[in-house]
Amino acid sequence: MISTRKDTDDHLDAAPPPADDYISPAPRVGVQAFCETEETAAAVRAASEDRRLGKTRLSVHMGGMAAAAKAYSTAPTPNVIILETHSSEDTLAGLDELASVCDPGTRVVLIGNPGDTAPYRELLRRGVNDYVVGPVTTLDVVRSICSLFSASEAIAVGRVLAVVGAKGGVGASTVAHNVAWAIARDLALDSVVIDLDLAFGTASLDYNKDPLQGIANAVFSPDRPDTAFIERLLARCTDHLSLLAAPATLERVYDFGAEAFDSIFDTLRMTTPCIVLDVPHQWSGWTRRALLGADDILVVAEPDLANMRNTKNLLQMLKTARPNDRTPLYCLNQVGMPKRPEIGGRAFAKTVESAPVASIPFDPRMFGTAANNGQMIAEISAGHRITQTFLQIAQRMTGHAETKPRRSLLSPILDKFRSGRSAREEMPESRRA
Ligand SMILES: Nc1ncnc2c1ncn2[C@@H]1O[C@H](COP(=O)(O)OP(=O)(O)OP(=O)(O)O)[C@@H](O)[C@H]1O
Ligand SMILES: [Mg+2]
Repeated sequence: MISTRKDTDDHLDAAPPPADDYISPAPRVGVQAFCETEETAAAVRAASEDRRLGKTRLSVHMGGMAAAAKAYSTAPTPNVIILETHSSEDTLAGLDELASVCDPGTRVVLIGNPGDTAPYRELLRRGVNDYVVGPVTTLDVVRSICSLFSASEAIAVGRVLAVVGAKGGVGASTVAHNVAWAIARDLALDSVVIDLDLAFGTASLDYNKDPLQGIANAVFSPDRPDTAFIERLLARCTDHLSLLAAPATLERVYDFGAEAFDSIFDTLRMTTPCIVLDVPHQWSGWTRRALLGADDILVVAEPDLANMRNTKNLLQMLKTARPNDRTPLYCLNQVGMPKRPEIGGRAFAKTVESAPVASIPFDPRMFGTAANNGQMIAEISAGHRITQTFLQIAQRMTGHAETKPRRSLLSPILDKFRSGRSAREEMPESRRA
């Protein structure tokens, strides 16, 4: 693949990528870069710190193509070589020289400059896999390396959206489930919700599914999960939505190593365009890793002091640890609870230094009915403002526009009729009792 990604002159100060642009992580490979300029070397070094290159071994050397040819005349070649060219050199001759000392399977990324004259066709013929016009940003380097390994750019590779509460009980799971519903139904993206609250998770109740061992079977499995194994653990909720449910039982405890869920997420990413993580409000190695590794993050907060402090800390920590990612988002929930003193939206936004993506009102009747019936807010009231809010969050987080055909005026009534009927038909035994 040849690409010239130079969108702005102010390239080194690039804005965060738009929400519809996402990069799937690179596998465990060795990458060696041979740079000409200190700026490029700095961008590549910074890329090695990016979460998506967390598994790669990346080393940076100076001296460009000449140094690479010299190095590989005596040393084996890694999986990926990044080469920066300089304006006066003959790129094609340099590549020919390298070809004589490189393994044929090695992938080559060329960082060129605007003065390059070598035709793309000739670069391709010499085995160049990606070509980026310098000066490059950190994200250019991350994207280029990762793109060498994504199965096909035409096939959607799964992106992970993590939702977490700034405090316990703020409605993070409710928001996660309703947003996932909107992503699946209104944006028609195949989605899986993973309930990571293994002991107490409510996703199976909220989607009116019998509790399953879902995520527990996957995480306690001694073998590395494959796609077929994970597929068997999924409970189907709607056409485009499935659930990897929590057992919500207390026979065992759920202490995990930080990397316990990595292979499950990686496996799901290969087949599922959108994975929504319902992350419990706790701070452990694996919850931290689930948040840091996600493509996008939504913190759900109530408008009080403790939530504000925690939101600020969470957003700050995430921004610092993920400098090349879109900034994490937050929404306010249960706003306007009668008699409760609240911190106003503006003061909250000022303290946490960003505006919420949404402010969801406290509506105990609506949310209580949904929770007790195992329904989504959209099923109870398709035209309600809160339903629209969940759709807006879904669009903001995925960067996808609504694909659903326009609904008729009778749709809300028909939805009510259909959902009432299906909820009764699908009600698990335990709930009917
Ligand atoms: N906007 C709202 N108005 C009224 N009730 C709400 C609202 N949002 C959520 N709730 C209710 O608040 C309760 C807690 O919600 P939920 O379980 O989603 O919170 P959580 O943050 O995931 O909690 P936990 O920390 O236990 O994981 C539920 O009964 C839910 O129906
Ligand atoms: Mg929860």
